[in-house]
Order: sequence, then C-alpha cells, then structure tokens
Amino acid sequence: MTEKLVITGASKAFPGVQALDDVSLALAPGCIHALLGENGAGKSTLIKIITGVHRPDAGTVLLDGEPVQFASPREAIARGISAVHQERNLIPRFSVGENIVLENLPRRRGLVDYGEVRETARRFMAPLGLEIDPDTPVRNLSVARMQLVEIAKALSLDARLLVLDEPTASITPYETETLFRLLRELRDKGVAILFVSHKLDEVFELCDSVTVLRDGRNACASRPLEGLDRADVVRLMIGREEQTARRTERTATGEPVLALRNVGTELGHRNVDLEVRAGEIVGLYGLVGAGRTELAKAIIGAAKVTSGEVQVDGKAVTIDSVATALSRHRIGYVSEDRKHEGLILMHSVRRNVAVTVWGRIARALGWLPNRAERDAVTPYIDRLQVRTPSLAQPVSLLSGGNQQKVSVAKWIAAEVRVLIIDEPTVGIDIQTKVYLHELIHELAAAGTAVILISSDMPEMISLADRIAVMSEFEVVGEIDNDHDATRMGEAIMARIHKVEGAT
Ligand SMILES: Nc1ncnc2c1ncn2[C@@H]1O[C@H](COP(=O)(O)OP(=O)(O)OP(=O)(O)O)[C@@H](O)[C@H]1O
Ligand SMILES: [Mg+2]
Repeated sequence: MTEKLVITGASKAFPGVQALDDVSLALAPGCIHALLGENGAGKSTLIKIITGVHRPDAGTVLLDGEPVQFASPREAIARGISAVHQERNLIPRFSVGENIVLENLPRRRGLVDYGEVRETARRFMAPLGLEIDPDTPVRNLSVARMQLVEIAKALSLDARLLVLDEPTASITPYETETLFRLLRELRDKGVAILFVSHKLDEVFELCDSVTVLRDGRNACASRPLEGLDRADVVRLMIGREEQTARRTERTATGEPVLALRNVGTELGHRNVDLEVRAGEIVGLYGLVGAGRTELAKAIIGAAKVTSGEVQVDGKAVTIDSVATALSRHRIGYVSEDRKHEGLILMHSVRRNVAVTVWGRIARALGWLPNRAERDAVTPYIDRLQVRTPSLAQPVSLLSGGNQQKVSVAKWIAAEVRVLIIDEPTVGIDIQTKVYLHELIHELAAAGTAVILISSDMPEMISLADRIAVMSEFEVVGEIDNDHDATRMGEAIMARIHKVEGAT
C-alpha cells in the first residue's frame, strides 16, 4: 500500500526556538494517526507544514508518493488536504453557513446563492448534531459551537487527507462521540486522518497508529498504537513517569462568599440557586449549550441579571461591569475564550499576566516598575511551565497550550476572593494539567471560593466538592462529590437525561 503522506527530516526554526528538528511521519490511507506531545513540542508547526501555512527549513513531504511544497493553504486544499487548525480561523461577522462553504461559495449568475449556502451548510452540520440556524453570525456562538462549525467546514471539503489539531478541545464527550463516528466512517472510506489531542483516552479509543514529538524531535515515528499503553505513551511524551497530583487538605468555612438566589438573566437563565464558600470548589457541569459560561458572564457583570438576587457576603449587590466585579467584589473570571477575551495576543507574556495585579502593585508602590511586574508574574509562569523564549515574547507566538497557561496564570496571580474558572485545561498537556489541578486545590485551600466550569468529567470529579448540573439554562440538580468516577459520572448524566429526555 502506498502511503498517503510521508514526511522525512522536517525541520523548522523560529527566532529563539527550534520548533521541529529532523521529524519524520508516515500516514496510510484508511488510517487514523495520532500526533502527540507536550505543549510546545511542535505538533501544530508540523501540521502547518503539511497544510501549506509554513514552509520547512529542511526535509521533504510526499503526498501520494510525489514531493510537494505548498506555497499557501489554498494549494494544499486543492490537493485534497483539509484541516481544522487549533486556533480557530472562522470569520466572526460571517454567518455559520458562509463560513462552512467559504472555500467554494456557491454562485448563481455571479451572485452568492444563499439558498444553496444554507442547504450545503445544513448537510454538514446535521451529522455533527449542530442544530443552529446557518444564518447565525459566528461571533454569537459559544466556543464549543465554533469548534463544531470549524469541523463541519473541514468535512465539507471532501478531503482525502484530513488534519485535525485538537478538534475535541472545547466540546464535551457527547459531541466527541458523534465526531468519532463520522471519523471512523471516513477512515473506512479510505481517508487518511491525522489527529492531535491531549486527551489520551480519546487517542486510544480512536487511533490506529501514533507519532510522538518531544522538544521538536521524534520520540517515536508512526508506530501502531496496539501494544502501547497509557504509561508508555506518557513516557514517550515527557521522557519520564507521569507525576500525580498532590491534594491539599482543605475545608470550606463560614457563610457563602457568593450566592445566587432565584436568579434569572437576560440570556435566559431561570431560577438559578448557587452558593460558594471560601475554600470550596463548586463545579458546574452540563452539555454544550447548557448555559454555564453565560451564567459566569452574568455573575461578573458582562450580562444582566433580570430577576432574583446576587449576594456577596450575604448582601445583595448589583455587578454591572467586569471592572466592578474585580475591583469592588474581587471576583475574577478565567474565560474559556482565550483568543477573544482572555489575552491580548500582541502583548508580551509578562503584560498579559500582570494586568490583573497592576492595581495591587501600584497601590503598594505608587508606581509600576517592570521589575515588580516581573516578580509578580514569574512564580506562576514557572509553576505552570509556560514554554517561552522570554517574558517579553508576544503571546501570539506561543503554542496553543502555552497561551492557555498564560490566560490561567493571569487570574491565579490576581488573588481574587471568588474565581470562576471556565475550561481551564483545554489544550493543556497531561503533566501540566496535574500541576494546574494542584494550583487550583491550593488556591481553594488558601481561602478562595472557586466555581469550576469544565466539560472534562474526570477533572470535575477530581476537583469539585459539589457539582451543580445545568441543562437549558437552569440548575437541574446538585450532587455532593464522593470522587467515585463511575458513580458520579452516572449520577450527573442521569440528571441531564432526565431533564433533556422530558422536553
Ligand atoms: N510563529 C511562531 N513564531 C515563533 N515561535 C513559534 C511560532 N509558532 C510556534 N512557535 C514556537 O514553536 C514551538 C512549537 O510550537 P507548536 O505550536 O508547534 O507546539 P504544539 O506541539 O502544537 O503545542 P500545543 O500542545 O501547546 O498546541 C513552541 O515553542 C512555540 O512557541
Ligand atoms: Mg498546537
């Protein structure tokens, strides 16, 4: 069998970083191949070489046995290569439909045929369970739905080589299952699929073979996944055994720091009751579209509370802006959307982390020297192992996972009383995830009230004390977490299905 894709000796340097060094990979048709490695290992760089975004400094790429050197992504598409990139590439002000068919806009007598746009878009949305109006502007969608739109777009190109860079990072296991069914169908039709994920369970469930990168080099190249177990793969990725999380003992104390009483919002929440005490981690679990991120936005004043009461320290408050939430009530929100809300991409790593601590430094010193900024930032950058040539590096040039670390570090550094953390470990590699979980435990142990929004069930079960289950913008149940993964998982899904089955 001829290989679909063979990469030999690929190297690529950026200023201060050798992103890829002599990397090889071979991918057969009808095969799903995992590309694994820690944050910054070089996965996305390799994918960008395959898809014509970057040109390699050295090495060859063979497509169907023939050497190729794409000058642009469009050339790669023309040769039957379709990709979902890690950083989303949708055009926010365009509709879902326009985005999906962007590469081949259907025309009639010179004009875009919008009937056809909608119809084609629906055809690729339906199998993914994406039931929204194709005329909706993409900027109105949640991160999860944007991810599904991006996948629909990639599938619409009918490619023979499909490259997926963390396609499941922002969607829940439920949507993931649907995607995997589609991918297996494509594989059975002979499509070659390259799949990047930090969720190893998914990799073992879906993939046939694997390439692991470590520091830009092959830790292994194109081996069958059969015969390898999780520990083997982790060892290849990090070069040693995986460390497990230390749990800091803690007890929740006193009255709730933050409480929602019968809250309704302009976004559609109804009768939401929720409390969180100092030292407590309360989880919010739900499927895509359950209204968890939207609830966070209402709490921090980015959306209006229209009924009921928000209480801080037992007193009713009105939080009308994110600035009030932080400065008056010391409530912070780690956004799931790092690209649009969490980070200023062209600013340095240092600036991005320091922005939440400026007030504190300036109050203490009366001014803001660079040194104080650096000292405030460095411990968090170290703890989360942010891989960057320097603190002055623009965040836009970091790998996806390292950007995510910066976005979380900024809010941990803020030392707020209530921290709402939305999907903190999306795109973060397994070892860093352990460090981040330790940090969240420590934060709570030091008295922060934490609200954790996560679609990662094991993460939820490992971190939360109580889990509030949301469905269709209501809290439909609250469960004390006994940390038994199977029992908790079943209890949570039972709540969701009871409600969603009933409507
Ligand atoms: N355009 C760029 N300019 C400078 N450095 C870059 C650029 N793109 C990537 N890098 C660097 O190259 C290295 C590899 O990055 P890459 O994005 O390929 O990692 P990755 O394996 O995809 O990581 P992640 O799991 O975090 O997505 C990183 O050190 C990153 O900071
Ligand atoms: Mg990447």
